[in-house]
Amino acid sequence: MKNNMKIETQLVTAGREKRYTQGAVNTVIQRASSLVFDTVKDKKFATANRANGELFYGRRGTLTHFSFQKAMADLEGGAGCSLYPCGAAAVTNAILAFVASGDHILMTGAAYEPTQDFCNKILSKYNVSTTYYDPMIGSAIVSLIQPNTKVVFLESPSSITMEVQDVPGMVKAIRAINPEIVIMLDNTWAAGVLFQALDYGVDISIQAGTKYTIGHSDAMLGTAVSNTRCWDRLRENSYLMGQTLDADTAYMGSRGLRTLGVRLKQHEVNSIAIAKWLADRPEVERVNHPALASCPGHEFFRRDFSGSSGLFSFLLKKRLSDEEMSAFLDNFTLFHMAYSWGGFESLILTNQPEELNEIRPVSNVDFTGTLVRVHIGFENVDDLIADLEAGFSRIS
Ligand SMILES: Cc1ncc(COP(=O)(O)O)c(C=O)c1O
Repeated sequence: MKNNMKIETQLVTAGREKRYTQGAVNTVIQRASSLVFDTVKDKKFATANRANGELFYGRRGTLTHFSFQKAMADLEGGAGCSLYPCGAAAVTNAILAFVASGDHILMTGAAYEPTQDFCNKILSKYNVSTTYYDPMIGSAIVSLIQPNTKVVFLESPSSITMEVQDVPGMVKAIRAINPEIVIMLDNTWAAGVLFQALDYGVDISIQAGTKYTIGHSDAMLGTAVSNTRCWDRLRENSYLMGQTLDADTAYMGSRGLRTLGVRLKQHEVNSIAIAKWLADRPEVERVNHPALASCPGHEFFRRDFSGSSGLFSFLLKKRLSDEEMSAFLDNFTLFHMAYSWGGFESLILTNQPEELNEIRPVSNVDFTGTLVRVHIGFENVDDLIADLEAGFSRIS
């Protein structure tokens, strides 16, 4: 549970109880499949408390996992945190824990593409139906709730197009119609800390810890922090699905938390500087950075978030031809092309409007130019601007 310390202090201290650090500064790495019981009494005790942090069996976790789980639950104000081998596993297992054949879920129509694929290709096989909604729907989401709606899934800001959702407004409206519905949020962009989802009434805050928690683009991790109401079910369903994480990556998650505060601050400073520079460029139609007024849902960002991270997108006025696309993307010095993000390095990718329309099931995008998504890392902003400027000169 949360304490009164500021988030920077919590990131440094969370999960560092003596039991987990054993005299070191960082948590120990305890690798184990088998945990050994000295007596029958010990075995009985471990079995009775296996879900509550007693060493029982490798898949239930070791001291390394318990430390990281406690840290995540404390940071996000939850009753517990389930760990997964990647963000996609966190998303899919959280949903699976709360649906059965015949149920219905509501999914944001601007969700991360594999999340949509899971609904379309896996949930549908088990007779669970999905209705997609416009990410900016707000409290009107209630018009889509059916008697069999069990889960409402949010992702804010949206993947690629960056719409910031009115999470408190949606939560309030949903609860008024059916308080049983489980509300989940893909909270990856905010690294779980810039938007305190559970404080706003969300039941489960999910993260691809692959991004900011790990922070160095060298490991994969998923976390789902749950409130008390949903914790037992999330934990047991995930366990039954065989979801677990190796101790070394759990350690990397803990280690990542210690620098997350300063990393996020630098992502914020650098990304806002670049976003403002882009907004003044003649080639640019609009910048979708949640901290800028031009981003859809910026008012919710200002109201609900304590800061910004490094991922955003912008729209070019023109649509790049295939040749221009190659000239633009193939020749950057600092910006590299890669799908994952959240590390110390700057990244760039593009999408044509029709590619986005394929993964926007509710309505087509409102632009005709090429969309560019960037992740801003820790390089010097002047160097990044010079790199982008050279890119623009290749397409003008
Ligand atoms: C918003 C969001 N959620 C979930 C995921 C999935 O994370 P992972 O790659 O760790 O499975 C990603 C990955 O890009 C993402 O961007």
